[in-house]
Amino acid sequence: MSRDDDKRLAAEAAAAEIVSGMIVGLGTGSTAAWLIAHLGERVAAGLDITAVATSRATERVARAAGIRVVALDDLSDIDLAIDGVDEIDGDLRAIKGAGGAMLREKIVASAARRMIAIADGSKRVERLGAAPVPVEVLPLARGFVAARIESLGGAATLRRHDDRSYRTDQDNVVLDCAFGTEIDSVALAGQLAAIPGVLGHGLFLREIDSAYIASDGVITRLDRTR
Ligand code: 5RP
Repeated sequence: MSRDDDKRLAAEAAAAEIVSGMIVGLGTGSTAAWLIAHLGERVAAGLDITAVATSRATERVARAAGIRVVALDDLSDIDLAIDGVDEIDGDLRAIKGAGGAMLREKIVASAARRMIAIADGSKRVERLGAAPVPVEVLPLARGFVAARIESLGGAATLRRHDDRSYRTDQDNVVLDCAFGTEIDSVALAGQLAAIPGVLGHGLFLREIDSAYIASDGVITRLDRTR
């Protein structure tokens, strides 16, 4: 089984929780792409859902798959959000945002009554922090925010794309911030959110209710216990 097979298995296991009538938050990334492809087939077969997308890329792919997508600003309640992760631990704390969509992803996850993470087994970690924490920053605050992050013990690297600074769907920049695995993620999440100019960050500590993680074809489901 390849990692792609595992991503597909995890995505399809989570999709089994979707029924007609639901408003569904669609994640961003390669694992979410399997979810969208699968949902497209189910919609063609009669599943009646409304989706909200966590990125422009997801919106495009979902519409192309025949899924009805409405704007996030028209909604306050979402039944179920399903999204990938970059790292996830046994308490369902995660780092997200390698795809740069963490701000919309967190809004959708927070608006959802329930959020499910989907991942292949490479994303499962004992402790968060080997992956950098992506931080979305107002461009004019980049230098100030980077200095504040350094003072918190992080190494902030401006994300680049095609030789220019990467821009999010909201036209902001991203600092990828390496803190290492000794982080106190709860304290760090609060400290990052409190820096003026920070618009969002990729620490998802309380949003995820369940996870489907597939390793070598075997799907494990984790549920939040506290
Ligand atoms: C995008 C994300 C993605 O969900 C995360 O990066 C996982 O992506 P993939 O499924 O491609 O590994 O947070 O902002």
